Amino acid sequence: MSSAEVAVRLFRSLEPEDLRMLQVLETGMGNREYVPKDQLQRYSKVPMDRIDFELSRLDKLGLVYRMQGGYVGYTMNYTGYDCLAINAFVKAGVLEAFGKSLGVGKEADVFDGLDPKGVRVAVKFHRLGRISFRQTRRKRGYMVDRASWLFQSRLAAEKEFEALKLVHGYGVSVPEPICQNRHAIVMGMIEGGELGKWRVIEKPKQVLMEILVNVRRAFLLAGVIHGDLSEYNVILTPEMRVLIIDWPQFVGRNHPNAVDLLRRDVKNVLVPFSRKFKVKVSLDDAYSFVSGKTETLSF
Ligand SMILES: Nc1ncnc2c1ncn2[C@@H]1O[C@H](COP(=O)(O)OP(=O)(O)OP(=O)(O)O)[C@@H](O)[C@H]1O
Ligand SMILES: [Mg+2]
Repeated sequence: MSSAEVAVRLFRSLEPEDLRMLQVLETGMGNREYVPKDQLQRYSKVPMDRIDFELSRLDKLGLVYRMQGGYVGYTMNYTGYDCLAINAFVKAGVLEAFGKSLGVGKEADVFDGLDPKGVRVAVKFHRLGRISFRQTRRKRGYMVDRASWLFQSRLAAEKEFEALKLVHGYGVSVPEPICQNRHAIVMGMIEGGELGKWRVIEKPKQVLMEILVNVRRAFLLAGVIHGDLSEYNVILTPEMRVLIIDWPQFVGRNHPNAVDLLRRDVKNVLVPFSRKFKVKVSLDDAYSFVSGKTETLSF
């Protein structure tokens, strides 16, 4: 079970005190990975016996780890962090229930969910920079400056949300950006399948053109280059609509490698179209089109 699945299951059983203690732990983790128990007590202003009770409860639920070295310290895992983000979304009124997992990968867990009006949404939890518990101890000893996975994952979510807002505002076909908190984002849910999973499509030329038109629009209007475009980051709906997902590594038009990154994005789309769907377009022609050097592209 992925950490988000555990978080989704546990979330309803958490008391406000549990969430408050996780928040205190999160603050402490701004300085170091394992937060001393004394510090947790100072931050939370809760009596020590209460702290012990809370922390052992969170430990049993599998949301925190205890470490005994030079001092007794605690750290939160992804499941704990997921619970904090879920809580914020529920409070913000953008999420009410979770459905099934849409994809679990190395760098993200994506779920489908419902907002309070019953509208389907997708919730993406970023996972970056987390090295295993044992590795942490071996590589860095007990004292670690700060939990950098927390920052890296949050940064990825912030960047992805920023990109979605930028390009969505210019009519680029992407999921609607709804809310971001910590390492997670809530966005519009898309019915469909990754292009990479489609073996046969009707009118492949039209689909390719729609992808390139969107890449062009993101670049020329929003000044945004996806940076990790592939047939797995394009969703094709049953109506043959194209949506481009997965934007945390976007760069702006003025990035020093902008040309290379935009060319690579285009190439990563052209290659599968040529191989699977026998639609062949030259990279130079497609690049000229998306970068605005030419107004049309015929093939
Ligand atoms: N808005 C959405 N609506 C429906 N499904 C989505 C949505 N966003 C993502 N997905 C599904 O979740 C999968 C993973 O999403 P995404 O590509 O954004 O994450 P990732 O960073 O590639 O994760 P991974 O570590 O798995 O590569 C997608 O391939 C898609 O199937
Ligand atoms: Mg992806």
